[in-house]
Amino acid sequence: MDEDSRIADVSEVPDDSTLLFTVRDGFDEREAILTETDEGDVTAFENYCQHWTDVRLDKGSGATKRDGELVCGKHGALFEDDSGCCTYGPCEGAVLQEVDVAVEDGAVYLTDDDYDFVEVGSSKEYDLSSNRSLGFD
Ligand code: FES
Repeated sequence: MDEDSRIADVSEVPDDSTLLFTVRDGFDEREAILTETDEGDVTAFENYCQHWTDVRLDKGSGATKRDGELVCGKHGALFEDDSGCCTYGPCEGAVLQEVDVAVEDGAVYLTDDDYDFVEVGSSKEYDLSSNRSLGFD
């Protein structure tokens, strides 16, 4: 597995919340989240609700999870942590955008051809508290 695509140790992926990371899709950065299911699988989705797709599920400190479902804090939509399917809320039936990952030797790797791994944590587009550039350099 390519070290450049290594996201985190499996032990760092919470089962009661999410681990936020940033990927690059062409010139755009996108955020994604990792979580562990009750079955011990690690799943990943883009970090955007399917109701209002500019609303992030994980705002930097972990998304809320309840009974194996990710909770959108805006209007309370629930998404299954294994399938990403919305089971309740204004976008019921919609599905979170899945991101392909794989586990090898205790680490989680990004394996999705659509994205390049950038870093663990927020996209700099949301990181207004830092001194980093917002993309104008
Ligand atoms: S924006 Fe997520 S439920 Fe409305």
